[in-house]
Amino acid sequence: MLKPPALGFGLGLRVDHYEAILADRPPIDWFEVLTENYLVPGGKPLHYLMRIRERYPLAMHGVSMSIGSTAPLDREYLRQVKALAQRVEPAWISDHLCWTGVAGRNTHDLLPLPYTEEALAHVVERVRAVQELLGRRILLENVSSYVAFRDSRLTEWEFLREVAARADCLILLDVNNIYVSAVNHEFDALEYLHAIPAERVQQIHLAGHENHGDYLVDTHDHPVPDPVWELYAAAVKRFGAVSTMIERDDHIPPLAELCAELAQARALCARTLAAGDGAQRPRRAAAAGS
Ligand SMILES: [Fe+2]
Repeated sequence: MLKPPALGFGLGLRVDHYEAILADRPPIDWFEVLTENYLVPGGKPLHYLMRIRERYPLAMHGVSMSIGSTAPLDREYLRQVKALAQRVEPAWISDHLCWTGVAGRNTHDLLPLPYTEEALAHVVERVRAVQELLGRRILLENVSSYVAFRDSRLTEWEFLREVAARADCLILLDVNNIYVSAVNHEFDALEYLHAIPAERVQQIHLAGHENHGDYLVDTHDHPVPDPVWELYAAAVKRFGAVSTMIERDDHIPPLAELCAELAQARALCARTLAAGDGAQRPRRAAAAGS
């Protein structure tokens, strides 16, 4: 099955920026929207979303699929996701390789899985069911973590790679999450990158975190720090010009500040590819804001 086209360099769509985006048409190639914010038909959020959709390509990014949970799939939620997708025609739909709750309780956290064959088979079956229901391949994102299961027999990257291969889904690589987990669990972030098959990587997230000395907390509320930029360059070298976006979830700065950070990502990607050892040449974005 063909992968969706690359979109270029995007930002997470945030309420604080609706008016500025519509008024200024900033040079952003695409936006990633938080699926859960637009599931209710009608109302202001959807009104803004559809106006922005007229000008920019979108991707949908959810936090509620809970693909790793042992609770039954939430078919009503998936029906709403599908209805939204029919309305906004996103380039793709993503969620996280995690679980968020069980037995009717939602922790509102993206929790890591035990990396076992049993969990792998369980997740693969559920990804297949979701893809069948949505009528398209989904992207799954690696989450950051602070604890691990003693029962794990695979590494996180082996687990992610196997889920993608067996369920035939795509991957959203969060480079910051890899870095955070690499520090917290003392693994080699480059080993992670090199184990991920390039043909499965559809999107990259860039973000910041909080440094607490001997551990990192994935807050997504800081600018992208130097070690994450370095890892991004390594990702570009390995995967080529993959659609990349900056994900700021809290302490949202003015749009111009995020545009400047995005320009940094664009320049770093171009420099890395120009150095001649990138996996592929940069592709033009499908559409630009201006
Ligand atoms: Fe992310």
